[in-house]
Amino acid sequence: MNTISPRDWASHPPYLHAPYRSTSLRGPTKPLIPIQQTLSELTGPVYGHESLGRLDADLTKNARRNGEPLGERIIVTGRVMGDDGRLLPDTLLEIWQANACGRYVHKTDQHDAPLDPNFLGGGRCVTDDEGRYRFYTIKHGAYPWGNHHNAWRPNHIHFSLFGPTLLTRLVTQMYFPGDPLLELDPIYQSAPAGARERMIANFSIDVTEPGFALGYVFDIVLRGRGATPMERTP
Ligand SMILES: [Fe+2]
Repeated sequence: MNTISPRDWASHPPYLHAPYRSTSLRGPTKPLIPIQQTLSELTGPVYGHESLGRLDADLTKNARRNGEPLGERIIVTGRVMGDDGRLLPDTLLEIWQANACGRYVHKTDQHDAPLDPNFLGGGRCVTDDEGRYRFYTIKHGAYPWGNHHNAWRPNHIHFSLFGPTLLTRLVTQMYFPGDPLLELDPIYQSAPAGARERMIANFSIDVTEPGFALGYVFDIVLRGRGATPMERTP
């Protein structure tokens, strides 16, 4: 039975990061206790293509009620890798995001921006044999979040991946290149310099579909020295 390499903490934000205020309420104050990797940590969950709906990976279509969602269509694609760059097929990715106005479909989001009846902001897919995934979605707006005076989150898409085992679970956020809010955002800034840049997607003219949508590439590494940083939200 193969074991999973230890997490490289140099790639991830600390549990407590004072400028990101709510981490002080939920971050552990005592050292973590390593536990032995046993069968239950090293196997499953296992997901199959049969559990996915036909439109699950297309957020521009999966919640349509009376028309197209508003906003700029984009394509987000990339590869999922484990330790040493090994490509990971059959890996479930789930994403969630605000709409083009910066509003989530969630009862706790009371931002004064309109909801879109044709956009839910949730999607999922499974990587193919070469570890690739692909989503169609809407580029969403910045939103205020009350962490400090005049705090606005940069554009981001939330990602959750399980990988081959429970130990390779990763929850992270994908950001867009050139966003002026990145240098002001305590969540993005909480990841170590040199690692946080791995959360920024690259614009790609090759992925861009003529006359339809811009394309972005976001590769995700679940473990090892080049791991994509985790986010410190519940
Ligand atoms: Fe968010």
